Amino acid sequence: MVVLKTREELRRWVKLNQNRERVLVPTMGALHRGHTSLFDEGVKAAGGEGDVLATIFVNPTQFGPNEDFDAYPRHFEEDLEKCENHGVTAVFAPSSAEMYEENASISVTESSLSKHLCGASRPGHFDGVCLVVSKLFLLTQPDAAVFGEKDFQQLAIIRRLVRDLNFPIKIISGKTVREKDGLALSSRNAYLSDKDRAEAPVIHAALKAAANSIGDGSLTSPEEVITQLSTQINRASGAEIDYLAVVDADTLEAVASFGQNPIRILAAVHFGKTRLIDNIGVIGAD
Ligand code: PAF
Repeated sequence: MVVLKTREELRRWVKLNQNRERVLVPTMGALHRGHTSLFDEGVKAAGGEGDVLATIFVNPTQFGPNEDFDAYPRHFEEDLEKCENHGVTAVFAPSSAEMYEENASISVTESSLSKHLCGASRPGHFDGVCLVVSKLFLLTQPDAAVFGEKDFQQLAIIRRLVRDLNFPIKIISGKTVREKDGLALSSRNAYLSDKDRAEAPVIHAALKAAANSIGDGSLTSPEEVITQLSTQINRASGAEIDYLAVVDADTLEAVASFGQNPIRILAAVHFGKTRLIDNIGVIGAD
């Protein structure tokens, strides 16, 4: 495995390996089993002869002024070991200065899917994601790229980015990896107090119960779903709901009823200062 720190080192590596299938897995480091499962997806997609290129970059432009950019966990040496153990052939880990000019003035804005759900409470977040992902696509020129379903809104926005900017890149989605009690793996779980950690699995439990109730016909409208979810989640004393939404899985528009199209139920819940997100597919999805 090679570790590339500069755009020039990356450019040479990309040129040298231009005839091999290349699958990109962008990350912000602090790698856990959720990320390594994305590497495993990457290895499958790259085939025996291809390369999996992981990026490790805590992207400043996707953090708001009151968010946790400085405190975001950084474990570079352990991350490299996990990359190596999961078949990654190259890691691009640039500095901020390598990625952003001081007076950079070009932005990438998605103006529809990103305006609600997480976008409402994190203004500018998805612009930062679209900017850095566009830069990574241009720098690494992959055939495919892997993103996790846990960040479902991000995944939908990346698909839109690829469609609307004509990036010739196949987007592969990786399933959410969970703790035994159902909590979705996230680098931010490390911030939870013991009490909040014990209560946080309520999010997945409530989503699963709602999906099952839609499946067996006992919940028949999105309103009923939201009511059941909020009742169940509010029973956890540390939980403060940011949003609950029942949306079309492609457009992320709220649905008025259950039809034939895949739908997704999304939740964002605060436990103390930590904001956790999760989602589940229903009707034709998952
Ligand atoms: O999902 C993440 O970790 C980040 O948003 C990403 C896609 C690596 C861009 O910084």
